[in-house]
Amino acid sequence: MSLYAQREKIEKSPEFLTENSFIVKNFVSLHPHNKNKMSENIIYPKQASREEQYKCLLPQIKALVASEPDLIANLANLAAVLKQAFGFFWVGFYLVKGHELVLGPFQGPVACTRIPFGKGVCGTAWKERRSIIVPDVELFPGHIACSSESKSEIVIPLFGNGEIIGVLDIDSELLNNFNATDAEYLSQILSLPG
Ligand code: SME
Repeated sequence: MSLYAQREKIEKSPEFLTENSFIVKNFVSLHPHNKNKMSENIIYPKQASREEQYKCLLPQIKALVASEPDLIANLANLAAVLKQAFGFFWVGFYLVKGHELVLGPFQGPVACTRIPFGKGVCGTAWKERRSIIVPDVELFPGHIACSSESKSEIVIPLFGNGEIIGVLDIDSELLNNFNATDAEYLSQILSLPG
C-alpha cells in the first residue's frame, strides 16, 4: 500500500488508526503534491551533546521546510522539532505586526500574546537586531514573565528580506541553559524557512 493510500485509510478508519498508531507519527502531513516525501520523519539523537543534536537536526529541518512555501507552516514545524528534540519548557515565535510582536506558532504553555517594540527580551532583540541570551531571567531588566517556571531564555531574530519579521523565543526551566552554540545553530535554522 502506498504511503498516501495508508494515510487515506487512517483518516477513513478509526480502527485502523488505533491498530496502527505507530504509522500516525510518520504521517503528519502527506499532501497529494508531496505524497511520496517522508520529510516529516525526524530522527532525534538522544544520547548526544546539544551541538551534535543540532548537527543531526539541521539537514533534517532543511528537508522538512524545503518543500513547503508557507512560513507559518514551517515555523509551526520548527517549534515542534525544537521542543521535541530538546524538551525545552517553551519554544515559539512572535511575529512583527505594526509596532508589536504578536504570538505565532509555539509549543508549550499558554503565553503572552503581544510584546511592544523594545520591551522584554523579545522586543529588545527586535529593537537591537541581535540574538539575546539570558542566563537568569530575574536579572534581565524588563523581562516579561509569561510563566514563573521560566528561568533562562534565548531569543533569535527571524529575518525576511533583510528585515526582522519576528523572533524565535525559547524558555528553559533551568538557569543558564543557553550559550553561543545555541545562538549559532538556531540562527542557522532560522535562515532555512522561505
Ligand atoms: N520572556 C519574553 C516574553 C515571552 S515568553 O517568555 C513566552 C520576553 O521577555 O520578551
